[in-house]
Amino acid sequence: MVKISVVGAGMVGATLVQRLAESELGDLVMIDVVDGLPQGKALDLMESAPLCGFDVDVVGSNDYRDIESSDVVVVTAGLPRKPGMTRDDLIRINSGIIRDISSKVVEYASSAILLVVTNPLDLMTYAALKYTGFEPHRVLGMGGVLDSARFAYFIALELDCSPTDVQAMVIGSHGDMMLPLPEYTTVSGIPIRELLSSDALSRSVSRTVNAGAEIVDLLKTGSAFYAPSAAIVRMVEAVVHNQRRIMPASVYLDGKYGLKDICIGLPVRLGRGGVLDVIELDLQSETMDALHRSTDSLRTLISSLEL
Ligand code: NAI
Ligand code: 2OP
Repeated sequence: MVKISVVGAGMVGATLVQRLAESELGDLVMIDVVDGLPQGKALDLMESAPLCGFDVDVVGSNDYRDIESSDVVVVTAGLPRKPGMTRDDLIRINSGIIRDISSKVVEYASSAILLVVTNPLDLMTYAALKYTGFEPHRVLGMGGVLDSARFAYFIALELDCSPTDVQAMVIGSHGDMMLPLPEYTTVSGIPIRELLSSDALSRSVSRTVNAGAEIVDLLKTGSAFYAPSAAIVRMVEAVVHNQRRIMPASVYLDGKYGLKDICIGLPVRLGRGGVLDVIELDLQSETMDALHRSTDSLRTLISSLEL
C-alpha cells in the first residue's frame, strides 16, 4: 500500500486528507504540532469510512516517527501573514517551520517525494530543497495547478461552458507575478483567442492573478482550501500512479529557461520519481522577460532565508 503523509492538519491539510482518503490513493498520516488536532480529525474522518465507502487507514499524530517510509510527503504547515507582520517576517517564520519538517523528512522518509504547499510557495520549495538536500526532481511545489484551475474556471464563466473543457496554463511564481498564458490555453482544442474577446480574456487573467486575495477578502479569516486541496490531489495522483501528467509545478532550475538555482512554476511531466522533465516552452520574449523579472524578485527574498 502506498503511504502518503500530510504535514499540517489545518484547512488545506485536513481537506486534502479527506480527498485522498475518499479517492483511496493510499494509507494516510496527518501530522500537526497541535496536540489532539490531527488525532481528532483523523478519527472523525475514519468514522466516515463506512458511509463514504473507503478502505484506507488515516492516522493523526504529533510524532514524526509515524511518517516513516512515506512515498509522498505533502507540507501544508505554516502560518498565514498576520497584521503587522512583514513579508520577510513570514518568510523567516515559515522557513523555520520548513527547516524543522525537512529534518524530520530526511530522518524518517528519506526516499519520499516532497510536495510543498506552504507560502510563499516558490521560496518555501527552494528552502525545502536546500534543507533536505534531496535531488531536485524529488522536491516540488504546488501553485500552478491551482492557478491554472482558477484561470480555466474564469474562462468557463466568460464562455458559459463546462470548466472541464478548458485546459489552461499558468506559470511563474505563485503570487502577484504569476503568468497566465492565453497562448497555451484552449477549450476542447480551440485556441482561447478564437473564442474570447481580448477584454474578456484580460478580465479572466486579472481575476486569476487576484484569485487568492479574492477568497481571503470573502472569508475574512484564512485562505482558500477546496481548490488548493483538489490541485494537490492531482499532483499526488500523478506521482502515485506514475501518470506522467503534464502540469505546472514549482521546480528547481539548473539552466532551463536561462535560469539557475531558483524554484519557480513551469510545466513538468510528473510521475513516480517526481519531476521527470521540465518542459521548455518557446515563450514570447515579453513573457520570458516577465519570468526573469519574477525570479529576480524571488532572489532578493532568498536572502531572508536562513539556509
Ligand atoms: P491553517 O492555518 O488552517 O493550517 C496550518 C496548520 O499548520 C495548522 O494546523 C498549524 O497548527 C500547523 N502547523 C504550524 N506549524 C507547524 C509545524 N511546525 N509542524 C506541523 N504543523 C504545523 O492554514 P491553511 O489554510 O491550511 O494553509 C496552510 C499553508 O498553505 C499556508 O502557508 C497557506 O498560505 C498555504 N497555501 C498555499 C497554497 C498554494 O497554492 N501553494 C494554497 C492554499 C494555501
Ligand atoms: C491561494 O492562492 C493562499 O496561495 C493561496 O489561495
